Amino acid sequence: MIVFRALTAADAAGVAHVERESFPTPWSREDFWREANSEFACYIVACEDDAVVGFAGCWISFEEAQVMNIALLRAHRGLGLGRRLMEEMMRAAAARGAERMTLEVRPSNAAALHLYERLGFSAVGVRKKYYQDNDEDAILMWHTKLREAYADAAPDAGECGS
Ligand SMILES: CC(C)(COP(=O)(O)OP(=O)(O)OC[C@H]1O[C@@H](n2cnc3c(N)ncnc32)[C@H](O)[C@@H]1OP(=O)(O)O)[C@@H](O)C(=O)NCCC(=O)NCCS
Repeated sequence: MIVFRALTAADAAGVAHVERESFPTPWSREDFWREANSEFACYIVACEDDAVVGFAGCWISFEEAQVMNIALLRAHRGLGLGRRLMEEMMRAAAARGAERMTLEVRPSNAAALHLYERLGFSAVGVRKKYYQDNDEDAILMWHTKLREAYADAAPDAGECGS
């Protein structure tokens, strides 16, 4: 069974493992340890039998949330878990007062693009040569009605961050 909960410092190694399986320039365990201890960060992990199989995280500054990343172990992709992870993170961010959420995505990442569009994000622009590993552009997306979409979000839901 998959369980969703807020990231803790003890998850840092598990999240870094997911990150290594997913990205060309992965964040380290220390990076995620810092994220777990940041009052601005809001991360959700997906766990199976106590092992981290995916995560989604954002930084919240006043009413705005900036998505840092989302990833799943390869074996857990394409099963609807990405959508559930994003929804858990969006609900937790709304509960902490975020009204809007923004993110960048590679035009070549069809699964992620489709996921964000399905969740109500709209493309508003392009950041030229944003990704340093291959100079790929980034599509900039916003969701501007987070609180409306997650009106059921109770304050402190997800026990994310501070
Ligand atoms: C991006 C990622 C988190 C998506 O999670 P996922 O669990 O695989 O996606 P889901 O199964 O929830 O699918 C979400 C939607 O995308 C669709 N989708 C999945 N793979 C797709 C593909 N290759 N092309 C187009 N659409 C795709 C699904 O059909 C679903 O659409 P639906 O809700 O209309 O049925 C996951 O694939 C991943 O970890 N990728 C590697 C890391 C990454 O690229 N992160 C994003 C950085 S911006």
